[in-house]
Amino acid sequence: MKTTYYGQSTIMIETEGKKLLFDPFITPNPAASHIDIHSLKPDYILISHGHGDHIADLVAIQKSSGAKVICIAEIAGWLGAQGIEAHGMNIGGGFNFDFGRVKMVNAVHSSTMPDGAAGGNPAGFVIYAEGKKIYYAGDTALTYDMKLLEDENLDWAFLPIGDNYTMGIDDAIKATGFINCKNVIGVHYDTFPVIAIDKDEALEKFIKAGINIKLPAIGEEIDL
Ligand code: NI
Ligand code: MN
Repeated sequence: MKTTYYGQSTIMIETEGKKLLFDPFITPNPAASHIDIHSLKPDYILISHGHGDHIADLVAIQKSSGAKVICIAEIAGWLGAQGIEAHGMNIGGGFNFDFGRVKMVNAVHSSTMPDGAAGGNPAGFVIYAEGKKIYYAGDTALTYDMKLLEDENLDWAFLPIGDNYTMGIDDAIKATGFINCKNVIGVHYDTFPVIAIDKDEALEKFIKAGINIKLPAIGEEIDL
């Protein structure tokens, strides 16, 4: 299993011969605009919530790849009205796909679509594939609900660390205790001035807390 980082909260996970793209926000991101979104060709696109910095390239990539979208029921309905087939889920539910299991979990945030439509509740995901468990938190505050993952033996967690809209570094470190996971890939930082971080300081804080922290460059691959 491997992951590739595409900036903000956009990642690809490749597992069991399938490509899972999360929260595509690439063309509006100056740091990622060199990436050809139509070359990504995901099999699935997972959407955590309806904000523009998570769905900007959703429709274009879905149309060029034919990927199946996995998202909360309200966003599935919003996509359906545009003729895009999506697998709607809701918080606490899981489903077995051909690459493995996806469970939708709580995130504390908001979720309105760019056109003002209701996006339901924001969500995170736990992916079970190749005998591994990966937590993709989405945009979220630190929340006690994360403790529900404590006994899952998560292998990796994708956590937002940019502050202002989501957890910052200190809360993300606290979250690693709640979810009992020491392998973390930080996302949702540096894309906009309000979520700029001091990377060296962030790395130092995570390492001091005993966390194996990765802050990959855009385009960088990591084995999970
Ligand atoms: Ni958001
Ligand atoms: Mn966001």
